[in-house]
Order: sequence, then C-alpha cells, then structure tokens
Amino acid sequence: MRQSLVVGNWKMNSTRASAKLLAQGITAGLDERSNAGIAVCVPYVYLDCVSEIVKGTALALGAQNVADKPSGAFTGEISASMLKEFGCQYALVGHSERRTYYGDTNETVAARFCQAQEQNITPILCIGETLEQREQDQTFAIIEEQLDAVINQAGIAAFGAAVIAYEPVWAIGTGKTATDEQAQEVHHYIRQYISAKDQAIAEKLLILYGGSAKPDNAKGLFSMPDIDGGLIGGASLDAESFLKIYHSI
Ligand code: PGA
Repeated sequence: MRQSLVVGNWKMNSTRASAKLLAQGITAGLDERSNAGIAVCVPYVYLDCVSEIVKGTALALGAQNVADKPSGAFTGEISASMLKEFGCQYALVGHSERRTYYGDTNETVAARFCQAQEQNITPILCIGETLEQREQDQTFAIIEEQLDAVINQAGIAAFGAAVIAYEPVWAIGTGKTATDEQAQEVHHYIRQYISAKDQAIAEKLLILYGGSAKPDNAKGLFSMPDIDGGLIGGASLDAESFLKIYHSI
C-alpha cells in the first residue's frame, strides 16, 4: 500500500508574514494520520522562517527548484546542500513553468534530480504535456521523453527515492482540471512504463496529480488507483482549502 502525499507549491507568492501565517494555519489543522504525507514547497527566501514553524510537525518542507550543479560560479542558483541546511525534504524539479519560462531542458531537469538525491532530498519530478501536444496525440511520447532523460542520467533505481507529479500543462492555473479518467489514464501509463523497467519500484512509486486541483475535485482524482495525491498550486495558498484537499485522501 502506497502512502499518499499532498504537496503545496506556493510559487512566487506570499510575503514573509503571510508565509508564516499560512504555514501556521496548515500545521494547526493537521491530524495524526499515518497514510498521507503533507509538504509545502515555499519560495527559497522563506525556507528559513517556515522551517521554524514546521519543526516537530507532520508538515514537510520543500523547495521549488534546485541547482543542477553542486556548487561554484553559478550566480543566482541554490544548491541541494544549501536546501539541506534548512531541512528541505523535497524539491520540485522540471516544473512546467521552469521548462517554459526559464529554459529547463529534460537534461538539466535530470541533473537537478540527481543533485537533490545526492543530498537525500526527494525530487518531485514534474512531467506533462501541453494542450497542443495532447491534441496531436503526443501525450505518451512526451511523458516517455521526459522520463527517459531522468532514467538515462539517474538510473531506474533512483525512482525508489523520488516522486513523480503528472501535471498536464493545459490544466495548470487555468481552472481546467483533467477529468479523473484522463488523469488516471496517464498515471497508469507512467506506472506501466516504469514497471516495464522495474516492477517493484513502480508499485511503490508515488505519482501525484497537479493542475487546478481543488477541494471540490480532489476526492474524485485521489480515488483513482494510480493517483497517489496531488501537487497543488493556487489552492495551497489558503490553509483551509489546502487542508480540505489533504483530508480528501
Ligand atoms: P495549480 O498549479 O494547482 O494552480 O493549477 C499546480 C502546479 O503548478 O503545481
């Protein structure tokens, strides 16, 4: 039985004060459940203050990205070892906004994935197709390309310490959620693809859904056999709605 996971992605939102309030609101609403993990990926500059708030609670801390190199002359980058100092357990890699606006390629995403694992930070590998790719029936080919880049660099065994987030780009921040069946179809495909290389890893692998997940659609999505939780953007900026999603598991 896989343990579920709900992860908030705050993106470039909040202030120091509102970040603290949001983290406090979430920790105050947590209960003693063992079958679901919960985490927030906060802006780098708030890792410090949020780490103080989550200490000793079930709320885990994550970053929204991680450098593809361990250290050195890479102005503006934040390394995995730096994230580790703040107690980060997770780091998103390959979010579609990084791929689209900041030039992340499948290869740099794979390098980020490896850097996170070097520091025992669990990478949350984000993959997904654009609307155009879906309409041209390329969804599975795109998913394979995105997975292959990481499998080639990190090896299939690395997925034993990673999470995948399937986020159809057309559903992110658009209010258009994939239907339960649409999401399940791709999640199942991802699991089968990994399973063909290593069945035991595929069975344990958490595959989260992301893209306009909200309190009113989370239950349906999470009831699908290959959907193990969610990566939540907009709806994670409000403690009550994020907790409702978490409690839908
Ligand atoms: P959204 O974002 O929930 O606002 O669609 C999800 C994500 O980008 O991770």
